[in-house]
Amino acid sequence: MLFQWSQKYSVNVKEIDQQHIRLFDLINDLHDAMKVGKSQRVMADILQGLIDYTDYHFSTEEKYMTLYGFPDYLQHRSEHRNFVAKVQGFHSSFKAGSLSLSLDIMHFLKDWLSNHILVKDKVYGSFFNQKGLE
Ligand SMILES: [Fe+2]
Ligand SMILES: [Fe+2]
Repeated sequence: MLFQWSQKYSVNVKEIDQQHIRLFDLINDLHDAMKVGKSQRVMADILQGLIDYTDYHFSTEEKYMTLYGFPDYLQHRSEHRNFVAKVQGFHSSFKAGSLSLSLDIMHFLKDWLSNHILVKDKVYGSFFNQKGLE
């Protein structure tokens, strides 16, 4: 396993913690598939699944940010968009055969998500809690 969720990643909002756990699982699935040498087709599908779930997760966060008037919304959203664009770029290059999924890419995904949660997502936790979202 590449990546294990623990309490230090908690943003103190149950629904969002659960989504983060799912994202960790999807990154681990991709890592496992890479390690055992699954076919390009299988890897591309897992990566697409990760992109779709990431999109869904970011929409959830952005929905609450707009609903509660989170001050850093635009900046936070642009980090989300940059990440999705980057991972979509990996996906197209991978499908086109010009990129192979490497440990470097796995670490990029893991480090981005880990930093984003610890540095950015953590900030909205207490803000959402004050609005009654737990
Ligand atoms: Fe998040
Ligand atoms: Fe976020």
